[in-house]
Amino acid sequence: MPKLRDIIDRIKGEDLHQKLNESAEGSVCTEKTAALIRRAGAEGAVLLKNERNTLPLRQGEPVAVFGRTQIDWFFVGYGSGGNVLSEHRINLQDGLEQDGAALDPEIKEYYRSRCAKQKKKVYDWGKWPFSLPEAPVTREMIEAAAKRAETALVVLGRCAGEDLDMKDEPGSYRLTKEEERLLKLVSGAFKKTAVVLNTGNLIDLSSLINDPAIDALLVCWQGGQESGLAAADVLTGKVCPSGKLAASWAEFSAYPGMEEFTGPGEADHYTEDVFMGYRHFDSHRDGLIFPFGFGLSYTAFTFAAGTFTRENGSVRFSAAVKNTGACAGRETLQLYVRPPEGAPLTLIDYKKTRLLAPGEEETLTLSAADGMFASFDEKKHAFVLRAGEYRVFWGTDALTEAEAGRFTLKEELLIKQCAPLDDGRAFTAPEACAPSGVPVTVQEIEAGLASTDGLLAALTDEELEYLTHGEGYMESELGVSGNAGVMGGIIPSLREKGLRPLVTSDGPAGLRLNIHTSLFPSGTLLACTFDDALVEELLACMGEEAAAVGADIVLGPGLNLQRNPLNGRNFEYYSEDPLLSGRMAAAAVRGIQSAGVSACPKHFCCNNKENGRKYNSSDVSERALRELYLKNFEICLAYSDPLCLMTSYNRINGVSACYHYPLVTGILRNEWGYSGLIMTDWWMIYEPSPYFPALKNSPARIRAGVNVLMPGNRSQRDKKVHNDPETLAALKAGTLTRGELEKNARYLIELQLKLDGRRA
Ligand code: BGC
Repeated sequence: MPKLRDIIDRIKGEDLHQKLNESAEGSVCTEKTAALIRRAGAEGAVLLKNERNTLPLRQGEPVAVFGRTQIDWFFVGYGSGGNVLSEHRINLQDGLEQDGAALDPEIKEYYRSRCAKQKKKVYDWGKWPFSLPEAPVTREMIEAAAKRAETALVVLGRCAGEDLDMKDEPGSYRLTKEEERLLKLVSGAFKKTAVVLNTGNLIDLSSLINDPAIDALLVCWQGGQESGLAAADVLTGKVCPSGKLAASWAEFSAYPGMEEFTGPGEADHYTEDVFMGYRHFDSHRDGLIFPFGFGLSYTAFTFAAGTFTRENGSVRFSAAVKNTGACAGRETLQLYVRPPEGAPLTLIDYKKTRLLAPGEEETLTLSAADGMFASFDEKKHAFVLRAGEYRVFWGTDALTEAEAGRFTLKEELLIKQCAPLDDGRAFTAPEACAPSGVPVTVQEIEAGLASTDGLLAALTDEELEYLTHGEGYMESELGVSGNAGVMGGIIPSLREKGLRPLVTSDGPAGLRLNIHTSLFPSGTLLACTFDDALVEELLACMGEEAAAVGADIVLGPGLNLQRNPLNGRNFEYYSEDPLLSGRMAAAAVRGIQSAGVSACPKHFCCNNKENGRKYNSSDVSERALRELYLKNFEICLAYSDPLCLMTSYNRINGVSACYHYPLVTGILRNEWGYSGLIMTDWWMIYEPSPYFPALKNSPARIRAGVNVLMPGNRSQRDKKVHNDPETLAALKAGTLTRGELEKNARYLIELQLKLDGRRA
């Protein structure tokens, strides 16, 4: 009964509805950042259809642009991940004008005055609109415009967000009657019609794709503050599109596991198991509209396969990519493995060319270690390559049939032996540090005059407890205005010992503060660039903004897999594929942290649905966890070193992520060796530990390995700083030990040492 629970949570002030920041001062956005946001916005746009060379628009030729979204453009999705107060935002109409497009003046003016008259509403958390009602149009108006211009653009917009999954309804996942009418009238009257989609989620495309009167389709996603300009760059041909889909685009009924997602139950059974996304569509092509990895260009490429090898536990393949078209462009090569029966097609590497001028060629070499396509055997608790034939494919989307090479394993090959999931039975509490009686400060540790052990031993039990949670609430006065809360030096006695308040700020589309900061492209758009280096360079700008305003921890990137097109937070996330998600997240972490602040990849793990997110259980096999929903995090950690990480709200196989000892301590800490700080998502749920019967709530969370509860207090209404009596009681009763609290606090002290070291 999630609804009743939600009501009770609301009454107790324990719901997840946040107050959004509404006004800002100053600005930290630089020209360099704005230029990179624009570049990324254009690089991530995906051209899905382009009959009769409808796009790019010809210079000087008039174009009539229809649809309210050209002005009421969706720059980002809703919720904590979208609440960035940028100083300026450029919508598509303005972007097209700036890029010199010859917009039909009457139609332009109609939308301008119509949208200006619309009252700007303020919506409650989670009650935001998926789309805005279309401005009415008449047949006469359209037919008159078609006499003035040969080409029309129809701009459609969709938006979802945190606590707001899309619905399989008109205006949300489906087109409305008004939108369909607009498309019909416009495409019937104009010689050429292109549709521009401005959305955070995939939506129903069937009517657009099957309609021969719709000549072109460009998906611009939600590209942040410059996104109208970025979209215009592609539409006018300033930039040749090179974005590729980061998720399979199919008819609604073709996605596996949809019944579960839309159903009212508290548990989502991941019945498709490892066959999610293109792994499913590889063998079920009915209903698939555009495959993962797909995207057209204005230019043309030819490919020449080079050598394929499998040596020393890895495959390697190279191919030459030549631009044989008329304009400069980029192409992305993708390498897939189809293992023997029973294991899915898997993307194992991708690479994008530099900008190739017409006639220019680049040879790309793609490679992957065997581990990238190993299957997890639940009985053996091991990643293995099963005996049989492995075929390696290369191409520009997941449907590629171009074989790079193949190899056969006569016997099963062990790739990595894991332990059975650790249920905590063998848990032993760590020893407490020996007290020296000498006071120690963080600065003394930094100067090499004292040790962390010394500081830990000198902390009182109460001080150690204060290091297990944040100050209590968001918008702390100890940090920059509009922050998401602070941890560390939250009381005077800790500050006297040199622990400073470490300030958090959302993420991932920019800093969510009461300062004008830059609004970056959504995760989905970034993934569609398939360009790790660009993402790293761009996200370094976010890190620099964080350093400039004094935010220590950026709450992003978000890297949950886009298991289902309806998930409201898909815009924050990258892809349905763990390799693409993991590498993008790693690039974001490297970028953010290059400025001396911490990133915080989130939400670990299986946060794939918003409705009822606090109580949902993602019921998923260990194999699917290992191959998909943990793999993205594992890859992110392999390619970057995030100083912090956030758990999710949802349960995994019935256990809330912040109490999940097997996943947090067993896998993240012990198996993968993650040594950064782990925090909860904001306001965890309060429950007994399923692994340690004597523990519940924060003591159970600390034992599970989740170091800091954020923002700290149980209720959003509680604005006081105080100890959690349950943790102190557990300490007194001996069900939680001082050694555990010291071990926990060490992560926080080390985080400050690392941050101070990077800034010095
Ligand atoms: C979201 C997180 C976010 C946090 C702080 C939560 O509701 O799930 O992603 O970082 O709030 O705003």
